Amino acid sequence: MNISTNINNPIGFFDSGVGGLTVYAKFREQLPNENCLYYGDTAHLPYGNKSKQELISYARNIMDFFKTKNVKAVVIACNTSSSAAYDAIKDDYDFKIYPIIQCCAKILAEMPIKRLGIFATQATIASGVYELEIKKYNPEMEIYPQSCPNWVNIVETKTQGEAQNIKIIYEDLCRMLVHNPEKIVLGCTHYPYLKGVLSSFSPHYMFIDPADFFVDYIKQDLTKSGLLSSASGNGFEKIYVSANPEQFKTAAEMFYRINDLPELVQEGVLKN
Ligand code: DGL
Repeated sequence: MNISTNINNPIGFFDSGVGGLTVYAKFREQLPNENCLYYGDTAHLPYGNKSKQELISYARNIMDFFKTKNVKAVVIACNTSSSAAYDAIKDDYDFKIYPIIQCCAKILAEMPIKRLGIFATQATIASGVYELEIKKYNPEMEIYPQSCPNWVNIVETKTQGEAQNIKIIYEDLCRMLVHNPEKIVLGCTHYPYLKGVLSSFSPHYMFIDPADFFVDYIKQDLTKSGLLSSASGNGFEKIYVSANPEQFKTAAEMFYRINDLPELVQEGVLKN
């Protein structure tokens, strides 16, 4: 951590699109006085089918962008980026970085259950990082990883109510239920948008949104590190996207009301 870091500097959040807002909305609720920046990398959406090298390059660009904004910390509100890019970039910045999977693994591992399902993107599942991190704390837990390749697009286009998409979600859920998991982690920050549909087929308490304890983790760590903002009143927020600001604003509605249209950041500008 840079010695000159001002505790009232902003915290950056990023994801491929609106998914990270499931984390961001909870954060704003718990720590309304923090200044926040959110970056939706919609030009590269979805992250789930990208290579590790591509994902590292996207993450580095966004981290460099946040660096120019003098952030005191960055929250990787994206499981895919946490699984593919965090290890590669974690030592290159002098501010705190909070990757969702690595920060939540211990809490998941300590749940009093034996059989845990993980729904996530293809890239997250292929990385094996969820199992790896959970098994560090609980080698006995049985993990059932499963990718759901269509879900992010369903969320971004806000079409979860359409019959063919309900069918896709139902069939993916059925493939998981064959393993008889006690709980299922929604291991992509977009997936909590589908909780309504999922809960119409299985009890809602089966689905775990890691954002629920991720935000507690960040809050505790900021407190411990003496980085909580000292400001009173509401902190400012600024939302950036790399493409389609209108679509982002519409898709976001379920989790977070955005008043101003997000600012469009061109990729070239990120590097300056
Ligand atoms: N929401 C992200 C995640 O948590 C990325 C989804 C995607 O773009 O494929 O993995």
